[in-house]
Amino acid sequence: MSHGPLPLRALAAQVLLAVEQGQSLSQCLPPAQARVADQERGELQALCYGSCRWFHRLDAELQGRLKRPLRKQDRIVHQLMLVALFQLRFSQQATYAVLNETVEACRALGKPHLTGLVNGVLRKAEREGEPAPIRPEIELSHPDWMVAKLQHNWPDDWQDILTANNVQAPMTLRVNRRQIARDDYLDRLRATGIDAAATPHAPHGIQLAHPVPVDRLPGFVDGTASVQDEAAQLCTSLLDLAAGQRVLDACAAPGGKTCAILESCEGLAEVVALDQSPERLARIDENLDRLGLDARVLAADAADTAQWWDGQRFDRILLDVPCSASGVIRRHPDIKLLRREDDITPLAAIQLRLLEALWPTLAPGGRLVYATCSVFPQENHRIIQRFLKLQPEARLLQPDVAWGRDMGQGRQLLPQPDGHDGFFYAVLIKHDE
Ligand SMILES: C[S@@+](CC[C@H](N)C(=O)[O-])C[C@H]1O[C@@H](n2cnc3c(N)ncnc32)[C@H](O)[C@@H]1O
Repeated sequence: MSHGPLPLRALAAQVLLAVEQGQSLSQCLPPAQARVADQERGELQALCYGSCRWFHRLDAELQGRLKRPLRKQDRIVHQLMLVALFQLRFSQQATYAVLNETVEACRALGKPHLTGLVNGVLRKAEREGEPAPIRPEIELSHPDWMVAKLQHNWPDDWQDILTANNVQAPMTLRVNRRQIARDDYLDRLRATGIDAAATPHAPHGIQLAHPVPVDRLPGFVDGTASVQDEAAQLCTSLLDLAAGQRVLDACAAPGGKTCAILESCEGLAEVVALDQSPERLARIDENLDRLGLDARVLAADAADTAQWWDGQRFDRILLDVPCSASGVIRRHPDIKLLRREDDITPLAAIQLRLLEALWPTLAPGGRLVYATCSVFPQENHRIIQRFLKLQPEARLLQPDVAWGRDMGQGRQLLPQPDGHDGFFYAVLIKHDE
């Protein structure tokens, strides 16, 4: 990336190119945002998120409008035109501003020889309007393999899933029950002019009508509330926590569920929060500090128990495994570009390996909650199916809950346009020995 001052659209094009080359938005957007004025950061984020969200649809249109693909070294101009098309199709920006500023950005990116092409393509796109999509999958803007997989896995729901993935996710809070009751916090929010409602399933959840910066949330710095999707909050009731228990959160960073566990039950004997990523572990400490909570935070590969386990078994284990994140695409639209079909089988192997490795650390009569933010059965109930065949002392518990769908070996939540994320939970009990 160049280091001079760059127009917003040029920076957005650079971010989009970095995502296409394998970086996540959470990696490449913050450095780009650091290069613009405070008041422009939100706009840059909206450009990058929107261009990723609609990438496949915009790209189909752009490819149709180009006589031949741009040379590899000019790929940035392709991304720039995608950003401009995103604005033409999905924003309220005046057309002349989009056209003029995109041409200016093209020049700023050191591609003055392509300004004529950019201008011509965008003018024609504006004049002709968006072409009718060849296939509904293009209109819903996902990679072909993902659409095919969802059609196969969810023959009655795939279109709803794709549609939900394109809607901006609501901002949902978890109220810290140690400090305040949900209804009282709702009153505090309303008194500050923030419109909000209780979540239907998570007992301490609140969904805001519109997202707000966290510093506008009353008591946020003092730990009165945290940002957490409703589906993620459901883990605590499945764990059935009680004072005196030793709890392991095996894939814990950034600590959203560790903190939910600690808030939900006073007097736990110990909570161990493990993660193999030292950088992400720092986020757990930040969250614990803000909420005034305590856990033993360890950097380790959870599957390598010899490295970190003292031999004392846990009464409860939360195993929130690394996964495709296909249930949270609306929050992370870059997943559409980053995830590959070939990723799923190796992820499933890691998930089963973690489950098998951690099972011996669970006490007899103990409970393990397996969780993913995926909608692919391969990472969800099929893992549990495979595990139950390998492990005769594991028994599946059917939780008595009003959310999600019973998949036989766990419950699947599909992403809801105006509600929770896509998630999967299974509860396993270890027979007394
Ligand atoms: C889905 S995220 C966890 C989110 C977290 N539970 C929360 O609610 O905030 C999965 C985490 O697993 C961690 N991870 C991946 N493989 C791991 C392993 N073998 N051992 C420990 N942590 C691992 C990743 O670094 C990542 O932070």
